[in-house]
Order: sequence, then structure tokens, then C-alpha cells
Amino acid sequence: MTDRNLKIVCVCGARPNFMKIAPIVDALRTCKNVETILVHTGQHYDRAMSQLFFEELGIPEPDVNLEVGSGSHAVQTGLIMQLFEPVCLEHKPDWLIVVGDVNSTIACAMVAVKLGIKVAHVEAGLRSFDRAMPEEINRLLTDSISDLLLVSEPSGVENLRREGVAQEKVHLVGNVMIDTLLHSKERASESKILGELGVKKGAYAVVTLHRPSNVDDAETFASILKALKVIAEELAIVFPMHPRSRANLTKLGLDDAAKAANVKIVDPLGYLDFLKLTMDAAMVLTDSGGIQEETTILGVPCLTLRENTERPITITEGTNRLTDCDTEAILQAYGEIRESPPCGTAPALWDGHAAERIVKILVESC
Ligand code: UD1
Repeated sequence: MTDRNLKIVCVCGARPNFMKIAPIVDALRTCKNVETILVHTGQHYDRAMSQLFFEELGIPEPDVNLEVGSGSHAVQTGLIMQLFEPVCLEHKPDWLIVVGDVNSTIACAMVAVKLGIKVAHVEAGLRSFDRAMPEEINRLLTDSISDLLLVSEPSGVENLRREGVAQEKVHLVGNVMIDTLLHSKERASESKILGELGVKKGAYAVVTLHRPSNVDDAETFASILKALKVIAEELAIVFPMHPRSRANLTKLGLDDAAKAANVKIVDPLGYLDFLKLTMDAAMVLTDSGGIQEETTILGVPCLTLRENTERPITITEGTNRLTDCDTEAILQAYGEIRESPPCGTAPALWDGHAAERIVKILVESC
């Protein structure tokens, strides 16, 4: 490492980024000779989607907030680029760290490489092989321009090898989202959310849905809601609803289809309440990427309402299963999981120390 201070800009923008950036910022701040600048793009901005996570995870106030807000992919990505460029020009960092696969990830990575700033991508190499997913495009592009590819599971290393990426750029480091989970589990166990929602440990399912492929299309969203109604006849459902899904319910005329005695639709929850709700659930039904990983570590059966996953280790080693999104397929997969719940093991390096490994690699590469 050089004697002079190393300047590193860390970027976060959307809800799943916050759990990933928290342990990295933490590990960087313990390094001597490293100056860390935290940039929030403002892709997510509601208190429940952003500020609450900073408070609960002890993430320092961002040094810069670009406050880009919502918009089409082109508008959001373009605006982040436009506003992030002057930040890079002002701070002239040695490295940019981006996490995950959201629009903020690719937008900031693209700005940095064009200014000659090196980019480290955390959660590199994951592939759903489904280019209809906006995140898949973000992953492919970010990986192809990053200097350091920090990977959470072996499939990512293999994908990057197949794509011809120089192997010295690629490091299997484990999962930073699981760092946060393991560090927060004890605090989460004190949450009173079960009582507040009137559900009992092991006697309910948690549902989350926000993928455009599931909630932007009336027919698909309706067929999922229909399955949830049937499931709720034997297992209470708690459904913390993403703002996108909430807006679509009304827009697509599905408000009534979502109403059922045993289905509780609530606003998005904070990290600790959601973690507690997940740990104590009988099962989770989701289309999230991160929740597939969290349930694997918690040993909670997870039914993912997608045709594919970019996180295959959650199936081969964890508690995750996939299902198509028509009503019959969901009910069949649900029945199978209830009858024989998958029990998994923790994937290698999902041990709470991924961020430390990342920072070590980064500092040693300078
Ligand atoms: C984004 C990510 C997705 C990630 C998800 C987690 C992209 C392409 N997608 O999807 O990978 O899994 O975050 O939530 O980056 N909204 C609010 N308040 C907010 C944020 C959003 O009301 O704080 C509403 C707005 O109506 C907005 C919509 O949600 O238009 C979608 O937000 P956006 O950031 O575009 O994408 P997400 O669906 O959240």
C-alpha cells in the first residue's frame, strides 16, 4: 500500500444497497490512511425505504446525497450520471465501490471508469441469464467495466470465467448482506413486530413482491394474489408492500383481489423488524434477490416467485425453491415445501467477515 491517503467513494442508492454498504463503510473507517466518502444517489427516498436503514444499521450520514428520486430507467440512470460526475471531479477518489445491481450501481460505475477512477463491484458475477430483468443488464455492464470483481458465491466466479474476465480481477469474498444479518440478529430478536402484527412464531408466511415482471402485469399479479388467498386459508400472511406494488394494485384494479381475512398488507418495514419477521416465519414467498440469501442463512424455507435466480447457491445449498407465477404452480410448490421443508446449510464465506476481506483486497491492490 502507498503511504499517502487512499480516497474511496462508496455509493448506495436503493434499499438493498444499504445492508451491503453498511459493513463495507464500517470496515473502511477502521483503516488508517483511508478516507471514505459516502454518496447516496437518492434512488430510494421514502423514510421507510432509506433513512430508517441508515439509523438501524448505524450507517453514517451520506457525505453527498444526489436526491435523484424516481423516474424511467433512462431518466434515473442519466440523472445519477449527471449529478455523480461533479462529485468524482471534486473528490478525485482512487477507487469507487459499488454494490449490487440497481440503476445507481451501473450509473456511478460508468461515470467513474470514464474519469479513470478504478471501480470495485461488490456482488459481481451473479447472472439470472434473463435479459428482461433490468438488474441483469446492470450486472453485465457493471462487471464488464469494473477493475475488481468481488463475488459472493462460486457461480459468480464461474460466470465471469466463462465471460473471459481476467481471473486476477476476481475474488470470492463471501456475502456482505449476510455480514449485516449476522451482526444484527441479536438486536432484531428484540423487535416487537410479531405482537404488533398479531401473528405467532411459526404460524405465518411473509410475502414480498416488487419485480416489474410480477407486479406490473395485471394477469400475473392477479394470479399471485389468487394463490396467496388460498394459502391464507391455512397460514396467515404478512405482506409488507413495496411502494411500486402498492401503486400498481390500485392502477391495475386489484385492490379487491388483495383483500382476504388472513392477509395483512402493511407498509414496508425497517431492517430489524423485517429480519425478526423473517426469522420467525413458517416460510417466505418472495421475488427479492437478497431475501433468498437471508432465508438460507436463517434456515427458513423460501419460495421464490421467479423462473430463475442469479443466486443458485440458495437452492443447491440453501432453503430456496423457484416457482412459476401461475396460481396452480405456486400452490403446488407451496404444498411441496409445507410437506417437506428444505433445510440448508450456510454457504462458504457467508460468515460475517466478507467486508473485511473486501477492504483487505482493496487496500493491498493499491
Ligand atoms: C429497485 C431496483 C431493484 C431492487 C429494488 C429494491 C433498479 C433497476 N431496480 O427497484 O433491483 O430490487 O429497488 O426495492 O434499480 N418508490 C417510492 N419510494 C421510494 C422508492 C421508490 O415510492 O423511496 C416508488 C416510486 O413510485 C418508483 C417505484 O417505487 O417509481 C420504483 O422505484 P425504483 O427505484 O425505480 O425501482 P424499484 O422497483 O424500487
